[in-house]
Amino acid sequence: MKKTHKDENYSSEKTHEELQSYHIPVLLNEVVENLNIKPDGIYVDCTFGGGGHSKAILQLLNERGRLIAFDQDEDVKKNIPHDDRVLFIPNNFQYLQRFLRLNGIDEVNGILADLGVSSHQFDEAERGFSIRFDASLDMRMDQRQTKTAANVLNEYSEQQLHKLFEQYGEVTNSKTLAKTVVEGRRTAQIKTIENLKNVLSPIVKGNPNKYFAQVFQALRIEVNNEMGALKEMLEQVPSVLKEGGRIAVITFHSIEDRIVKTFFKDNTFEAPEENPFAITERKKILKPVNKKPIVATNEEIKKNSRARSAKLRVAEKI
Ligand SMILES: C[S@@+](CC[C@H](N)C(=O)[O-])C[C@H]1O[C@@H](n2cnc3c(N)ncnc32)[C@H](O)[C@@H]1O
Repeated sequence: MKKTHKDENYSSEKTHEELQSYHIPVLLNEVVENLNIKPDGIYVDCTFGGGGHSKAILQLLNERGRLIAFDQDEDVKKNIPHDDRVLFIPNNFQYLQRFLRLNGIDEVNGILADLGVSSHQFDEAERGFSIRFDASLDMRMDQRQTKTAANVLNEYSEQQLHKLFEQYGEVTNSKTLAKTVVEGRRTAQIKTIENLKNVLSPIVKGNPNKYFAQVFQALRIEVNNEMGALKEMLEQVPSVLKEGGRIAVITFHSIEDRIVKTFFKDNTFEAPEENPFAITERKKILKPVNKKPIVATNEEIKKNSRARSAKLRVAEKI
């Protein structure tokens, strides 16, 4: 069984650094080194968040360099630096090429995506991402979107719920879990974190915090269509990157990592052609820079527990 990646630090106390900041960037030096930054290049940070990675990229750019930063969460606006080289795009990175074109940019020298949610999003009780608080089951990164975690829990079929808890949460009793949600919502809608915990309490397996973290992770991935947005963005990369340009992606979940690994290797998500006589020789445009993903050092993990499940993969346009 694959090791489950859980991005909420439910089991240990937060370090001083974790408590102080909006978000501590993970694998910061590794990202910057691997992007091979050209001082006058154009770089995209798909997931601006607290701006930690963006700041490090900006430090290596000269006055002609540019940074295009995407984030779908309104809250990050307070972190945008007053810097003429920065263009902030308050949208989903799944529309990468469209927004670049709208701003007169056809190609860029490098792209970074540091996936998932920020520590800030977990720490804001009312956003509904964290098992530590009671709040509405919201979990939207983009608050303009209508679908919330409560919608998923109250409107999805038992089969849909089973699949998402199994795939995105790797919850061991996902079938029972889906059945319990469907039975629970017959009495009253499941609207808050406490409602959900109460409905699930009879079927929790193992450590309750760990169990709920897996359930929450699955709901969050579904609400924000995280796998769909990642695939759409990756498919645009070959036409958006300049030759020799690099893309770096940090994942926190085994499914995400598999998506990135496959795309960097095969440049497609399509299954291999079954007909042996078909012309299968596709021209590869991206090639992986490292065989194995780059992971955090023990020293980094000690300072930032979130780095524990981070995996960085890098590819270069040929
Ligand atoms: C892990 S944090 C990034 C932290 C950032 N690298 C830093 O150093 O502070 C992920 C951020 O990406 C945003 N995000 C996640 N998926 C997104 C998507 N599909 N489109 C735009 N923003 C997204 C989240 O709102 C969040 O602020």
